[in-house]
Amino acid sequence: MAKTNQVVFFDTTLRDGEQSPGCTMHHTEKLRMAEQLAKLGVNIIEAGFPIASTGDFESVQAIASTIGRVEGAPVIAGLARCKQLDIETAARAIEPALRNRIHLFLATSDLHLEAKLRITRAQALDQAGEMVRLARTFTDNVEFSAEDATRTDIDFLVQIVTIAIQAGATTINLPDTVGYTTPAEYQALFETMHARVPGANDVIFSTHCHDDLGMATANALAGILGGARQVECTINGIGERAGNAALEEVAAALMVRRDRFPLENSIVMTELAPSSQMLGEIISFTCAPNKAVVGANAFAHESGIHQHGVLANPLTYEIMTPASVGVTANSIVLGKHSGRRALEHRLSELGHTLSKQELDTVYHRFTELADRKKSIYDQDILGLLTEANAEVANA
Ligand code: KIV
Ligand code: ZN
Repeated sequence: MAKTNQVVFFDTTLRDGEQSPGCTMHHTEKLRMAEQLAKLGVNIIEAGFPIASTGDFESVQAIASTIGRVEGAPVIAGLARCKQLDIETAARAIEPALRNRIHLFLATSDLHLEAKLRITRAQALDQAGEMVRLARTFTDNVEFSAEDATRTDIDFLVQIVTIAIQAGATTINLPDTVGYTTPAEYQALFETMHARVPGANDVIFSTHCHDDLGMATANALAGILGGARQVECTINGIGERAGNAALEEVAAALMVRRDRFPLENSIVMTELAPSSQMLGEIISFTCAPNKAVVGANAFAHESGIHQHGVLANPLTYEIMTPASVGVTANSIVLGKHSGRRALEHRLSELGHTLSKQELDTVYHRFTELADRKKSIYDQDILGLLTEANAEVANA
């Protein structure tokens, strides 16, 4: 099962994403976003952390009993610590869904065990086994996450993952909780697990990467190369601190670099931009303009050389079409770096075909204006055209 040719997308926008500053969502907003995630084709929606608050419980339950009841809907997951009450609460919240999952987590690094949980390694092993077994009494789909896996002693990680599998976990997640790992190291971690954990081939291994060093997407992809077949990610890369691996980046990389990742997934690529836009409307910020794949500038070209190339053949400066990720068109942004060809192109879009001499006159005025003004709008260009025509008439 482990190394199938299918990469499963586990979206945690509504859980890891929602628990970060500025990303709080209300009940109806979570339902709206969950509906969009289903349309986007994610396999699993982590709908929340039911024990965290009554509001969280109700949202998870509402998503499970609406979106989760539709034939072919994503699996609805609820997060739980390795504690009985957490598990029972999560189980009640996800129960209405046709397919559901309890996602259990327990910190495994010595730092977390000692400073945060104040338990020994032996106690952690017992707790993991016992709580996975309890979760399995509610659903046959149980994920175990070894929190801070990338800073965990490797022998202990092998031990605890082995116990979780023996207790019935069906997915094993190795989170890079603090965004510390590197691609080569993370790939090797999955390879080691496959080599050393008995039963590793009977479960799916998952990545969960935070972006503290800006390597979340690269690490998630490296995890896939190491044998992981589930990726945990969020829309626009929102999440704790610097965020999570961005779903749209992982999906686009798998599409564009299929030569490196000859794997299938169920993401409806044209829903990437609409999903990003919807999230931006719901939370208190949109993604940065230069954000990969879905940022406002991801398919915008301002420099003359690039504009010339893109107008001749978009492949010169675009590795995927805007339409393939749900962006309506690339945009030729007129500014001080733009050339004559881009101006001519925009004028023709506005219904004006100019002679070479007319274009020279307008272009001269355009460069003067562009030196003074950051953004040049269509009205500016039409204004320049009127001025140029008047100049010719008065000459
Ligand atoms: O970053 C993390 O370790 C988590 C776990 C709860 C999976 O979000
Ligand atoms: Zn996380």
